[in-house]
Amino acid sequence: MVAEKSKSHTLESEALDIIFREARTHRAWQQRDVPDALIDQIYDLLKFGPTSGNCCPARFVFVKSKEAKERLRPHLDEGNKEKTMTAPVTAIIAYDLKFYEHMSKLAPHMKDPKAMYGGNPEKMKQAAFLNGTLQGAYLIIAARSLGLDCGPMSGFDADGIKKEFFADNDYIPDFLCNIGYGDASKLYPRAPRLSFDETSKII
Ligand SMILES: Cc1cc2nc3c(=O)[nH]c(=O)nc-3n(C[C@H](O)[C@H](O)[C@H](O)COP(=O)(O)O)c2cc1C
Repeated sequence: MVAEKSKSHTLESEALDIIFREARTHRAWQQRDVPDALIDQIYDLLKFGPTSGNCCPARFVFVKSKEAKERLRPHLDEGNKEKTMTAPVTAIIAYDLKFYEHMSKLAPHMKDPKAMYGGNPEKMKQAAFLNGTLQGAYLIIAARSLGLDCGPMSGFDADGIKKEFFADNDYIPDFLCNIGYGDASKLYPRAPRLSFDETSKII
């Protein structure tokens, strides 16, 4: 029998501030290293986020060295260059069009994973994109939970990134995310959000 969750399973208000209420998209960075072990920890949390059929299609490259950053630079929109080149780490979040090749490990009960999508490549691509993007969001939550700041970006040349980083596989770049310790003095004021009533209803 599964034990009923007690109130202690709720995050403290401070944790909610760290992950949501006070977390901001950062564009300027303290020059403070993000150790490789912390990057491992980000993955070890985000991997538990749910994906359809446990397909886990996201693939990540954590661009950290100066040389690797230089490979990224020409493919960034002008407005994203400075913030990315100064960030301690830039994650490339991609999705694997051949995610089904890992399904024997991820969902051993599934006899023919491709059959789930009617063998339709467009449906498989949609599943890879949807679930890979979700996993990118889990990365942001995981990084924030570990005390890091994030700066997600879609302003880049996806074909260029594909050729430079994923030439010999079926990974498609989805978005980039700078990771590090943000310089809060460079933040703009927080933009408003839509209210519950503007976006939601309970029926
Ligand atoms: C998928 C995605 C793509 C984004 N692309 C860019 C970008 O290319 N350049 C940029 O400066 N900010 C980019 N942003 C940052 C958003 O503008 C920012 O997260 C949003 O305004 C909320 O800011 P806040 O977290 O400080 O409230 C992107 C954010 C997301 C989630």
